[in-house]
Amino acid sequence: MEVLGPAIELSAKHMQRVVIDTDPGTDDALALLMALNSPDLRIEGITTVGGNATLAETTNNALRLVDHVAAGCDVPIAVGAERPARGSFSHAYHVHGADGLGVDLPAARLAPHPADAVEFLRDRALAAPGRIAVIALGPLTNVAAALDGQPEVAQAISEIVVMGGAVEVPGNVTPHAEFNIYEDPWSANAVFGSGVPVTLIGLDVTHRTAMHRDGGPRWFEGTSRSAQLGNRILANSFRERADVQEFYLHDPLAVAAAIEPELLTLRRAQVAVVTDGGERGRTVASYGDGPVKVALGVDVGRAVEIVRKLISN
Ligand code: BDR
Ligand code: CA
Repeated sequence: MEVLGPAIELSAKHMQRVVIDTDPGTDDALALLMALNSPDLRIEGITTVGGNATLAETTNNALRLVDHVAAGCDVPIAVGAERPARGSFSHAYHVHGADGLGVDLPAARLAPHPADAVEFLRDRALAAPGRIAVIALGPLTNVAAALDGQPEVAQAISEIVVMGGAVEVPGNVTPHAEFNIYEDPWSANAVFGSGVPVTLIGLDVTHRTAMHRDGGPRWFEGTSRSAQLGNRILANSFRERADVQEFYLHDPLAVAAAIEPELLTLRRAQVAVVTDGGERGRTVASYGDGPVKVALGVDVGRAVEIVRKLISN
């Protein structure tokens, strides 16, 4: 990788209290398992967004997953946006399976939180100014809507860790764009320009962290529901996609970095997103000063170890 000037190391501040905004999604599911098992994170809530699948499916997947592996844990799940700021989500069933998860889980006994995702994000941030971080694992529609016209909310959120973008590398949905950013480039622009500190974990680093087909069928150790579900998700994903050798740990890397920021090498930038035309979804960094810390390096061995350890639980 070409490093364009001096890299910065993220301070060793660990996030404790987080809201996870997500569109599960197989790799979102692994990220949720990690967060639910991590002693270093307190999950204030999960907010759902359409993206990998419809909003109804991603919400149902979040509810079923939490109910299955952490029944009684009291993590609220608030329902978010069905569509991006403009148009509609395109979904990624070819990557994530039929309902966005591809594995059977018992029907959820949990119900969604009464507040919607935007209200929920705002309430949690304002109730604990400077102490809540957001880990955003899907299109940034909910997060942008929560910040829209609410400077006190922007002020209150300590940091947004975003899985998204392809800054110095090719995209995964077009030669220029990564899926989460491509799906709602308008919201991504709003978040990157909101002034809230953002750590941007894009394909620059997530395409280096993967679980390999050969590592199965027991990628995760133990007999816990979490380990079993993680193994089922990976086994199914590899079964459905015979030509694929690597399952990229996109969203799991964002959770790992929220727990252990030293994993990443970061460079500060202003990031703008192309919203129209053939380069839609392209994340363009102007390095120097700016509110976004772009991840350009990752300790791959340690990142994979954190993922394994937390899901093996
Ligand atoms: C991102 O897109 C989604 O399909 C994954 O869940 C991840 O958040 C990777 O480009
Ligand atoms: Ca995702």
